[in-house]
Amino acid sequence: MTKITVVGAGFVGATTVQRIAEKELGDVVMTDIIEGMPQGKALDLMESAPIVGFDVNVVGTNDYKDMQDSDIVVITAGIARKPGMSRDDLVKTNSNIVSEVSENIKKYAPDSIVIVVTNPLDIMTHVALMKTGFHPGRVIGMSGVLDSARFATFVAMELGCSVRNVDAMVLGGHGDLMVPLPRHTTVSGIPITELMDEAAIDRLVQRTISGGAEIVELLKTGSAFYAPSVAITLMVESIVRDQKRILPVAAYMYGQYGYEEIYLGVPVKLGRMGVEAVIELDLTEPEQEMLARSAEAVKEAISTLDL
Ligand code: APR
Repeated sequence: MTKITVVGAGFVGATTVQRIAEKELGDVVMTDIIEGMPQGKALDLMESAPIVGFDVNVVGTNDYKDMQDSDIVVITAGIARKPGMSRDDLVKTNSNIVSEVSENIKKYAPDSIVIVVTNPLDIMTHVALMKTGFHPGRVIGMSGVLDSARFATFVAMELGCSVRNVDAMVLGGHGDLMVPLPRHTTVSGIPITELMDEAAIDRLVQRTISGGAEIVELLKTGSAFYAPSVAITLMVESIVRDQKRILPVAAYMYGQYGYEEIYLGVPVKLGRMGVEAVIELDLTEPEQEMLARSAEAVKEAISTLDL
């Protein structure tokens, strides 16, 4: 049986565990530093199994040891953004948390694939890579699947069409410098550039870029978790079932798109081995410039950390 550990049993972590269990992607361990909380949530989830009908084990724990030999570890541990706080404000605190978690992953789950969710995403994924010392194909950040889902939602709302027909693509960093790609965002194969004018596209792009902040402003005491958790689950499923889906994720660049040793949101083939290929798109000059700004911001933030 596949074993999946989710570190951090808060809103994103616990909802992810629920989705993974309901899809029977594997046995799940959920860990947190708060005593009793992951145990309570795990038991509550197990008690939902007779009704939902899933038949996998869900365990809650405060002990890193219980992640022993996991196939996949999802890191959601950290503090969430408060209103007015940028993702980058979180760097220092969350970097310490992700470092500690990564050292334990290295110790207890040395063969795992790590999916990082803690923000600021591109930087935390870099921290996890450095602290685990794993092959970069096995340390991946969840960003583009969520950002693309947000873009797709806004496109469907704008056109009044089914969201099922929309395929969106977002590159770059998971933050204010993400790069939504209208040319590669389609409705039943038709690029949205043929379906709406530039002003409408710009509006949707801007809403996508501040999609996380829009939720934070509304919730006031936390950040998004329904869409993030299903985006994580899609990535877990593609790995566990070796589906080789083409998904935008934060992947480590070594030469692709002209970048070296940096995490950037790009489309990849995601399978049993983790990132099995990076897909390089031809970008227009403005898109390249946006990507460069995104990469620059990630590099700058990383240089402030002691890794
Ligand atoms: N080990 C395990 N869990 C930890 C640790 C640690 N070292 N440090 C903190 N945690 C736990 C907290 O106790 C909390 O339960 O991480 C959990 C985070 O949960 P929430 O505060 O509910 O935050 P959530 O909304 O789930 O977001 C988690 O994902 O999307 C990102 O920006 C978001 O970085 C944030 C992360």
